[in-house]
Amino acid sequence: MALHIVFLQLCVGILALPIHILAFLGLWHPVIKKILPYLLEKATRFYNKRMREHKIGLFSNLGDFKGSAGELALLEIGCGTGANFQFYPRGCKVTCVDPNPNFKKYLSKSLAESDHVEFQSFLVASGDNMSQVDDASVDVAVCTLVLCSVHNVEGLLTEVLRVLRPGGAFYFLEHVAANASSWTYFVQKILDPTWKYIGDGCRLTKETWKYLENAKFSEVKLRHIQAPYKWSPVRPHVIGFAVK
Ligand SMILES: C[S@@+](CC[C@H](N)C(=O)[O-])C[C@H]1O[C@@H](n2cnc3c(N)ncnc32)[C@H](O)[C@@H]1O
Repeated sequence: MALHIVFLQLCVGILALPIHILAFLGLWHPVIKKILPYLLEKATRFYNKRMREHKIGLFSNLGDFKGSAGELALLEIGCGTGANFQFYPRGCKVTCVDPNPNFKKYLSKSLAESDHVEFQSFLVASGDNMSQVDDASVDVAVCTLVLCSVHNVEGLLTEVLRVLRPGGAFYFLEHVAANASSWTYFVQKILDPTWKYIGDGCRLTKETWKYLENAKFSEVKLRHIQAPYKWSPVRPHVIGFAVK
């Protein structure tokens, strides 16, 4: 890596020294797990407002993937505070998975505001090991702003393909690495080593589309977009769905 990038990474690291020291001592992880749900609830209000049209567009054809009984069994992986419930169709049966149990309280709030969905259960699990979810039991799986934090993305996508019924779909909306020749990418590189602590494992420079394109889906409909807010290292996104 170029020396000037390492230097700037160090500068950011020094500014965030308390975080790095706590992380080194193994004390940061429990702290961020507790405060992230609170912070995310605030951030979600802003994000959903800005991304509303994209989310409405993304989820507009969920109904096409209803199972033979005319119902839609939806698995939300990395559900967080339940930011997507409002975009799901009436009667949709939602099962939530997240490794952080501290989201449960916030999830309940979102559910209270979205009584059009039929909540099934909240499973505390990582997306790359969802053993509580049966094979081929799900019509649709959803990840939004999750794959950036997942260490084993291939493992998660293998699990998605296991739990989806044949013909089921995986919906995604993920912030990703910017074009390598852009200023945004330069800044992403500088912030990344510190950002991963603040974002509980979130990486700014992940080329998530490559994992989606290489997984064994029969069809991948993926678009690169820029989120409609002013400059930010999490502006470049991929959006779309992939069919099993
Ligand atoms: C930035 S939040 C996004 C939450 C929500 N999907 C949204 O759009 O607001 C990232 C979420 O991914 C979850 N997460 C992190 N690692 C995960 C993993 N290995 N498997 C499943 N979820 C994970 C976090 O606990 C958190 O809820």
